[in-house]
Amino acid sequence: MTGPGMKALGATFQPYRWAPTTLDLARRAGIDPVELVRFDGNVPPLPLPSSRPATVAAALATVNEYPRALYPVLTDAIAEYAGVAPENVVLGAGADDLILLVARAFAGPGDVVSVADEPTYSLYRVAAELTGASVGEDDPVLTFCCRPNNPTGALDPLPSPRPLVVDEAYWEYSGADGAVGLIDDGVIVLRTFSKAFALAGARVGYALASVETAAELNTRQAPAPVSSLSAALALAALASPPDLAPTIEERDRLAAELRSLGYAPLPSYGSFLFVPADDPLAKRSKVRRRLPNSSLSRHGSRPSRFSVAMPNFSIAAPYSRGSAVNGYGPNSRTPKLMKWLASSSQPALRQRSGSVARITISAR
Ligand SMILES: Cc1ncc(COP(=O)(O)O)c(C=O)c1O
Repeated sequence: MTGPGMKALGATFQPYRWAPTTLDLARRAGIDPVELVRFDGNVPPLPLPSSRPATVAAALATVNEYPRALYPVLTDAIAEYAGVAPENVVLGAGADDLILLVARAFAGPGDVVSVADEPTYSLYRVAAELTGASVGEDDPVLTFCCRPNNPTGALDPLPSPRPLVVDEAYWEYSGADGAVGLIDDGVIVLRTFSKAFALAGARVGYALASVETAAELNTRQAPAPVSSLSAALALAALASPPDLAPTIEERDRLAAELRSLGYAPLPSYGSFLFVPADDPLAKRSKVRRRLPNSSLSRHGSRPSRFSVAMPNFSIAAPYSRGSAVNGYGPNSRTPKLMKWLASSSQPALRQRSGSVARITISAR
């Protein structure tokens, strides 16, 4: 892949792949985009109460100015939340921005970057290859690992090579200490406001690293990676963090119900569940009969990732090539599964049309 005058990318390079946009899907289904709820991004289905117009009003009043004035305030708040010093914090436009930043800071043409525990988040490989490095195990200049791992939900042991990037995008759901205690031992922790804080559209993430590494990363970071509106939203979210207990309970309820149906979801420390492709029960006709139209029975030979959305409201998405490309909607191919998932009470699902459904959520 070569543009005019651009440096060539490796022959095997695959760019990051998104699922269709909400507008696209709504248009296909003939419904208003606001009626569509997506489950393929592993993000909460609704914003936090703190994400309201008043939160960004002051930032809007000064939107003609660059956002730097808010950075020390946000950095201090993140440092306090994470239990580190402000000098350990690097801001970014989401964890993705920091994955790319760390890759270009440590790797270049001819280098090897290691990606642990595949299947895992696909951007590590993209980021490594964009620098001209290749992905492998041999004497890596940088190692990426994801804890809890997307898509498996596992908290695998930390790889030993250093420098080591530990992507803790789902850390808040894990109940674990995470790797922040290792930042002075060659570890760079990445976190985001996109998951637990329901701010994926605002694009705010941060890295936690030793003072020296954080300074080097900040030197290489764009001058203003986070907008003032996004900084205001992140500050408000930190001031009133969400209660994740209902999502964690729902994850565990779903896992138990899946097990009672004969599936074997892996233990998950994230906001999703993963049923491996080699689960022998996924192919059994009894399960097929019970869930004849579900994505699990249709894709019994493929792994499935379930995004846990809110109590009694979750959906399965066939997992392939690093992302749940068919995971939007409740979609019309999964009505039985949806009914089962929603069985204990309220979410009202109605008017399926095309590949997505109109839905009304009545949360508990
Ligand atoms: C493991 C992991 N890291 C990073 C990201 C991207 O996070 P952000 O929205 O902060 O760029 C995701 C998004 O799904 C993810 O699953």
